[in-house]
Amino acid sequence: MASVTALVLAAGKGKRMKSQLPKVLHPVAGRPMIDYVLEAVAEARPEQSVVVVGHGGEEVAGAVSPKCQVVYQKEQLGTGHAVMMAREFLAPADMVLVVCGDTPLLKGETLSSLLRQHRGSGSAATLLTARIDDPRGYGRVLRDSQGRVIRIVEEKDATEEERKIKEINTGVYCFSGPELSRALDELSPANAQGEFYLTDVVEILSRGKGEITSMMLDKVEEIMGVNDRLQLSQVESIIRQRINQSLMLEGVTMVDPASTYIDSSVTIEGDTVILPQTYIHGNTVIASGCRVGPHTEIRDSIIGPDCTIRFSVINQSQTGQGVSVGPFAYLRQGTVLEDGVKVGDFCEIKNSHIRKGSKVPHLSYVGDATVGPGANVGAGTITCNYDGFTKSRTEIGEGAFIGSNTNLVAPVKVGSHAYVAAGSTITEDIPPESLGVARGRQRNIEGWVRRRKGKS
Ligand code: UD1
Ligand code: MG
Repeated sequence: MASVTALVLAAGKGKRMKSQLPKVLHPVAGRPMIDYVLEAVAEARPEQSVVVVGHGGEEVAGAVSPKCQVVYQKEQLGTGHAVMMAREFLAPADMVLVVCGDTPLLKGETLSSLLRQHRGSGSAATLLTARIDDPRGYGRVLRDSQGRVIRIVEEKDATEEERKIKEINTGVYCFSGPELSRALDELSPANAQGEFYLTDVVEILSRGKGEITSMMLDKVEEIMGVNDRLQLSQVESIIRQRINQSLMLEGVTMVDPASTYIDSSVTIEGDTVILPQTYIHGNTVIASGCRVGPHTEIRDSIIGPDCTIRFSVINQSQTGQGVSVGPFAYLRQGTVLEDGVKVGDFCEIKNSHIRKGSKVPHLSYVGDATVGPGANVGAGTITCNYDGFTKSRTEIGEGAFIGSNTNLVAPVKVGSHAYVAAGSTITEDIPPESLGVARGRQRNIEGWVRRRKGKS
């Protein structure tokens, strides 16, 4: 089997993005753009992958998989010059697959079929081309009278006639390693942009013995490059559609895919229903049988089976089975809700473990707390976990009942099956099966109103 080296060009400045962040690191559906390219490349199973970095090189190098080799192009003198930086990897490879780091829609199967075609052809280079209605900005593919590729001409160097050609260079190529290596020696920057064009290698090779073959791409969307923020949003919307479609085909119901935003890193099991205006990000896993949304945002969380989550925000949290969250709940980092827990409206839970079947149904803040199984935390319960200096923990025992409008001033423990009277500010531990009351005793002053109004 012939050896394949993949080369990803990612050193360019991305000037039109008008950004501090290197272009290939701009996120698309939650992951850096270059991730998608590297994933497609990996699907084509090259023996090694080399990424050429330059602008923001350290940052880009940090974002690519440690399995990739990284080479630096200190000055960005063109795509041909970028390939020269990886020279040591080229000559020993039978085939060199070249792709750009800013085309995240490219599919692995397209790269595999390009390699397959090249392998069978014995040619010096196989180009991936496409025919598009508006070829502006792309290099055009020039053919001789027999239809053989002879040259690629860049838009800026093209004549009026050449610009009318609709067959474009996608920027994806497969070269014979030794032939590419030789042709690079002959490149010169004598063109409109004063750059070393990789595309000139095609003309050099076509003058030699080797033939240039090509493969035409039907789905032109795949080669859409990201050069500005407008294209970034277009590519993002296509990737989101792809993610939603594949989830739906795996058995996830989406009531309104157009208003459902799911990162490519998310896993959702079948028979879960996602309602409109729902955002699911990062390393989130949602098990089967859940109803999520509408108007919900979940990030880096694990949701167990058969949960219902409505109008809520969940971050770095975990739920068991049959948990109900919302409407209007906020679960913050470190929240664990065991099976059957209910967190209702206007509740915020942070860094707390709520055991099986417990309920926090309304208007509460539970932070840095442990709630035993089967407990009931009444409306308006606040764990006072911060005294301005340190955070302290609250422990609520199994089966405890916290009356409404209670402050639990941490560190404090409410024993198992204990009660707290409504309206209490609890500063001392309550033993198990006891009632804690901490509030002014009520007195009724008879006739007070009449006296106040001077009608005594
Ligand atoms: C290039 C092709 C053009 C093709 C188009 C497809 C050349 C000369 N032209 O043009 O025929 O139609 O892609 O999208 O190759 N890069 C470097 N170092 C550099 C310059 C660029 O690594 O010095 C990288 C960029 O980061 C980018 C890729 O190469 O990922 C393509 O560069 P870009 O400047 O976008 O080339 P185009 O003008 O789009
Ligand atoms: Mg480009």
